[in-house]
This record gives sequence, C-alpha cells and structure tokens, in this order.
Amino acid sequence: MTPRLAAVPRSGSVAIRGGTVVDSNGSRRADVLVGDGRIIAVDAADDASDVTADRVLDASGCLVAPGLVDLHVHLRQPGREDAETIETGARGAALGGFTAVVAMPNTTPTIDCAAVVREVQDLSDGACCDVYPSAAITLGRRGEELAPMAEMARLGVRMFTDDGAGVQSSRVMRRALEYASGLDHLAGGAAVVLAQHCEVEELSEGGCMHEGEWSSRLGLGGQPAEAEELMVMRDIALARLTGSRVHFQHLSTAGSVAMVRAAKQAGLPVTAEATTHHFTLTDSCCADYDTVFKVHPPLRTEADVAAIRAGLSDGTIDAIATDHAPHTSADKEKPFDSAPPGMLGLETALALALTELDLPAEQILALMSWRPAAIAGIDDRHGRPVAPGEPANLCVIDPAAEWTVSGEDMASPSRNTPYEGRRLKGRVRHTLLDAAPVVIDGEAQR
Ligand code: DOR
Repeated sequence: MTPRLAAVPRSGSVAIRGGTVVDSNGSRRADVLVGDGRIIAVDAADDASDVTADRVLDASGCLVAPGLVDLHVHLRQPGREDAETIETGARGAALGGFTAVVAMPNTTPTIDCAAVVREVQDLSDGACCDVYPSAAITLGRRGEELAPMAEMARLGVRMFTDDGAGVQSSRVMRRALEYASGLDHLAGGAAVVLAQHCEVEELSEGGCMHEGEWSSRLGLGGQPAEAEELMVMRDIALARLTGSRVHFQHLSTAGSVAMVRAAKQAGLPVTAEATTHHFTLTDSCCADYDTVFKVHPPLRTEADVAAIRAGLSDGTIDAIATDHAPHTSADKEKPFDSAPPGMLGLETALALALTELDLPAEQILALMSWRPAAIAGIDDRHGRPVAPGEPANLCVIDPAAEWTVSGEDMASPSRNTPYEGRRLKGRVRHTLLDAAPVVIDGEAQR
C-alpha cells in the first residue's frame, strides 16, 4: 500500500501539493512526495494539509507530469558559446519544463568521436536538466565516411544524426543503418536510432525559404517541399531494405506526413517529430525579410501546417521537438539569404502546444514526454509513470497561466525567438530533476 505522505518525513524531501497527476496511465488528483532522487509516495489525499516534507511546492490548479523530453536542441557547445552554452541551454530547458534534451552534434568540433562525446557529457554535469549528446552519422557531418558509432554508443550515445544536413548518399545511409542495427548491446541494451534531417541539397541549394508564392513575391531563393520529401521517401525505402529504425526529424510538409503515415501503416520501423514552429508559423511570416523566421527546414504553407497538426493528432508524428537553435544578434542581423537558420524554442514549446493545438493535455504530454523518451532510449529515467520508486524527474504546469513571450527574459544569451510579444496560455511553475527543484515558481534555481 502507498504510505500516507504524512508518514514519510525525510530530509531533503519535497512535497508537490494540490495538483492533478498526468502520466501515461491517465490523470488523477494526487500529492507527490519526492526525495533521494526518487518518487517516495503518490497520495490521492483529499486533505492536503497533512503533507509533511522539508519543502512544499504549491501545485494547486496545476498538472504534475513526467518532465518533458526534447529530441532536438542545439546547445552550441563546444564552439559557439557566444550563442548558447550547455549551462544556459539546460536552464532554458528546465524553465520550459524539460528534464532531458538530446543535443545535436553540429558543434565545433563536431560530436563525431568519443573525446567530444565525453567533453559534452562532462560539461553537462550539474546542469538543470539531463543532456544526452547525439553524435554524427558521418565524420564531420560530411556525408562520406561513417563516424565511429560503436565507441560513441559505448559511452551511451543512442541517437546518431548529421542534423543541419541530411546524409546525401543512399549508399552511405544504407551502410549506416546496417552498422547501427548491431549497436544496441553497446548502448546498454537501449535501441540505437539514426535520425535524419531530410533535405536533398541538389534541390534546396541556394534557397533560404520555402519555394512558393512568398519566395516569388520576395525575390528569395526557395527550397521546394520535394527537397524534404524525396529524402523521406528514400529513407522509408532504406528502413524497409535494412529493417533498421529511422527517426525523421522536423517534418515540415504535408507530403512527408502522408508518407510517414503510410510507412507506419505498412509496419515499417519509422518514427517522426515535428517542431513547434512548423505547426504555428507559415512562410508568410518572412514577408518583412525578418531573419528570425529563417529556419531549416523552412516555414511552409497553411496546408502544410494543417497536415502537421493532423499528424500530431492521429499519432503519425510521435513527438514535438523544438529544434532550439540559438544564434547571436550579429549573425541574425545579416541579410535574409546569408543569415543562419534557426530559432529559440525551449521556453515556448509547451505553451505553444497547449495554446495552439486542439488536443487534450494528456496527448500533448505524450508527444512531449513519454513518446520522445522512448525514441531516445532514455525511458528508464524520463517519461516514467508518476509512481513510488520512479526517478523524480517531473514538471508542474499551470495550464491557465497567461504570459507574454519576451526574448529578453529567456535564459539563452541569444534572442532569436519568433514569438516575441505573443500571448500564450500555459506555463511551467516548477521543474524537478532527480527530486531537486531546478525551477520553483518559474525561477531557475541553478
Ligand atoms: O534551422 C536550423 N538551424 N536547422 C538546422 O537544421 C540547423 C539549425 C542550427 O544548427 O542552427
């Protein structure tokens, strides 16, 4: 039987009082006691006043959920610490309710060998959330020779990607999939997955936004939807050929969603993510040549946004990711065609999903917590049910809180949020990592 909260006073314990627990088992009114890194008790007490703990966090009116998991962030370290560091990125993540993020390998140097994996792991020690480095599929992300995936899997890397670029050669991608399928035992039994940024460069080269009506009007080079779709199509074929898992990153077109839906119906081992910006913004945002709206893959049309939303709703798309991509003001002040692509996402993702998607909170949390945790192979620590004995990685969300987005207030040294001034509903109140409150009342504690 679950002990009454009052019966377990402990040093360093934290009680989360008055909220509604939401996890993969559904939702119920309960108080949660955590300590020593774990959940000690979950008590459906009607009288909350008998909770005893060293610290009590108010969760009245809130959802108490497993911490969010972001499959796709750029933390810029090593190499571009002026734009972001692991410390600031992890702080932004915790403020956004994330207890785990998967860091992309397009750093300088590239995360493509054991030494750089270790460096990122060392830098992540003591951060506000767990940071899992992904690593490149090919050396230097050049698409030619395979990176030493085995030595990196041995260090715990479970996701490999050349993100920022797709693997252009079908032959190299096929070999990578065959190689990766034998690595699971090195990653502690967790499945290793190859994640693809789908972009055929022969078609996207010279383009800086979606190719369509708006690129014509603005006189900017376009990237056609087909640049993404051809690689999605190819990699579905390669998943069939090799039997290996493929995860599709930041899907942005209606055609991509339709192909992934059909591949899943055919039983192929594919998963997919979509970013918050691809279900909230369109290419018309680029009308003033504001580089804050430049991103890869580019913002697409209303019809594409509708297809992404439908894919999130029917389970074709497994996860919401941010593709958090900080860039300095100096870089973003360049002309549209030469500014770097990317936008901040960690602190706005949950609120955008709650505000913009017509989905129950439970489904949004599935898309942002336990499903991405399973894809990343980190579901031993994240996205777990809120139950005694489980790791206490949690977020407490006030779904009714309204707020205005301000880049100035964000943890990142970069300011490139495309949502500046937007009113959103839903805010993270507290985040706990290994039972330690890293965010209390919306304030970072580390
Ligand atoms: O917009 C993007 N920014 N897309 C990418 O693929 C890379 C990322 C970055 O690193 O800035």
